[in-house]
Amino acid sequence: MKIAFFSTKPYDKASFSAANEIYNHELVFFEPRLTPDTATLAQNFSAVCVFINDDVNETTLRAIAATGTRLVALRCAGFNNVDLKTAQELGIQVVRVPAYSPYAVAEHAMGLILMLNRKLYRAYNRVREDNFALNGLLGFDIHGKTVGVVGTGKIGQCFAQIIHGFGAQLVAYDVKENPEVLKLGTEYLDLPDLLSRSDIVSLHCPLIPATHHIINATSLQHLKPGAMLINTSRGGLVDTRAVIDALKTGQLGYFGADVYEQEKDLFFEDYSDRVIQDDTFQLLQSFSNVVVTAHQAFFTQEALDNIAKTTLSNVTDIAANKPCENALWRP
Ligand code: NAI
Repeated sequence: MKIAFFSTKPYDKASFSAANEIYNHELVFFEPRLTPDTATLAQNFSAVCVFINDDVNETTLRAIAATGTRLVALRCAGFNNVDLKTAQELGIQVVRVPAYSPYAVAEHAMGLILMLNRKLYRAYNRVREDNFALNGLLGFDIHGKTVGVVGTGKIGQCFAQIIHGFGAQLVAYDVKENPEVLKLGTEYLDLPDLLSRSDIVSLHCPLIPATHHIINATSLQHLKPGAMLINTSRGGLVDTRAVIDALKTGQLGYFGADVYEQEKDLFFEDYSDRVIQDDTFQLLQSFSNVVVTAHQAFFTQEALDNIAKTTLSNVTDIAANKPCENALWRP
């Protein structure tokens, strides 16, 4: 199939070109995001390949359908940026990569916890400046603490297994229980109970209407005062303004995020010589007990290789009119 890749970076080109040696599709890499304005780039391509911040809304879908596109291949797990109803109406198939490395994301969540707890960002800079004082670097043992996992699917399970290795007690919230997570001695609770019992809360559920702003001014009131919140899932799970208010009062003690609700205007680009216009993001960054990474949790070599192989295999199935197990709807 002739595939137009959007939002591409050099690492996408490298991993997909290598994987394509087996699949032999025609790949064309574009740097811009797919939006209604850039949809013309997809003209005469049977498939588009998109990432998390491409805007695959109704207008985009109608535009690409009109010029011959019949497949949207997401090179990610989440699909909250695709209007599935319109895709179905237009007969555009949508495939995704449901799992490529749950370890990558779970390990990054653990990294954010250690970074915030042991203030590694400060320690690194201090030592480089020959400041060997320990004041302000005091952390806590994770061993014996209670950690709440919100969403115990593939990534939540990996995360639970990692944090169990640290000797933490596990509590979880999900719409369904995971037997592997139960095996770790995890207690499933409702969300307010989980928040009130946890020293650390890590979010691993998808962004859907039911989970939009699952962390908001009301739910933050349930939090154990001074607890740590980690979000490596999707920015829209968290009401950032409410998080800022809770950080100011000390109700929230630490916030680590790899995702941000308005990230599509910022992340994956170099803004180091530009003025950032997002005041909420700038305010969030100003707290010393906040660490933000720019949606890099998935970014391991293993994950990139798996993403490329699964995406191209999905495209091959659709091109051959074979049922694709990673299709989000079936004609
Ligand atoms: P998954 O589908 O295996 O697990 C999601 C879990 O959330 C399931 O157990 C499901 O029952 C649960 N869930 C669904 N609705 C819920 C609700 N209303 N309340 C509580 N739990 C609910 O997905 P996986 O692979 O574990 O990924 C989780 C999320 O991680 C993805 O949706 C994506 O947003 C995010 N992600 C972030 C990445 C990053 O680089 N930062 C990379 C990959 C995924």
